[in-house]
Amino acid sequence: MSTSSPRSAFITGAASGMGRATALELASRGTRVTLFDLNAAGLEETKALVEVTLGGSAVAYPGDVTSLDDLTAATAAGVEAFGSLDAVAACAGIEVIKPFLEQSVDEWTRCLDINLTGVMLTARAALPHLLDAGKASIVAVASDCGTHGYPDWSAYCAAKHGVVGLIKSLAMEFGARGVRSNVVTPGWIITPMHERILEGVSEEERKEAAKGNPMGRFAQASEVATVLAHLLSDEASYTNGLVYPIDGGTTAGYLE
Ligand code: NAI
Repeated sequence: MSTSSPRSAFITGAASGMGRATALELASRGTRVTLFDLNAAGLEETKALVEVTLGGSAVAYPGDVTSLDDLTAATAAGVEAFGSLDAVAACAGIEVIKPFLEQSVDEWTRCLDINLTGVMLTARAALPHLLDAGKASIVAVASDCGTHGYPDWSAYCAAKHGVVGLIKSLAMEFGARGVRSNVVTPGWIITPMHERILEGVSEEERKEAAKGNPMGRFAQASEVATVLAHLLSDEASYTNGLVYPIDGGTTAGYLE
């Protein structure tokens, strides 16, 4: 086990994409993982990958990030299994793409409930355990939509900007009590969400779209997971309140 890695991590969105990749990255560094997601079958797959492929330890707890009861029970289950909780990766989220004037209030509310309130509730449930651990860390996955606006993404951008504000505030409130809070803002990452958004878009068109990126490509989920594992580890022991782009350079600019 890497001495700088957390002992026990709680990961939301762990059935798929970046949440699963983060669970696998942390487990490969010796961290025991509590996996949380609505998708119970996907969670079992991630658990099997952790235990069988990596020889790690995992607890799978199906639940909804909009439910404080689910999150409270799941974080408690992680503490019961592994003795403590000193890391949280808040990866659960949904895409919501809708022209502003066509978006219903229900669609807006659902987006904010899952993508913003879900991160707040995750932190609420986990923080008592993180404070007990004495030294701990939270990383939330926002998006480049947390620092930029995009047409047809208003609810998602509002939620992700909210995640950035929430995490900055947690960094201020809990830093001196030993809990660091940081947020990553990925660009295009190849995951099931990415596939849903680009459904029907040809390989040629995808290559064309990636050309604007300074690195000329989209990223793999594992390229986000390694950054989360770093931020959750003691390697980042003085990093708090950081908004960390993982976007191939689009924060610097887009190629014409
Ligand atoms: P994904 O769709 O592959 O995985 C998201 C997971 O969240 C799924 O397993 C889903 O079941 C779970 N989830 C959704 N609603 C939930 C709820 N109410 N309670 C519990 N679990 C729930 O997506 P991906 O791409 O791995 O996304 C992870 C995070 O990264 C999301 O917050 C997303 O908004 C964000 N993101 C994704 C980008 C991309 O290009 N794929 C870019 C920037 C940010």
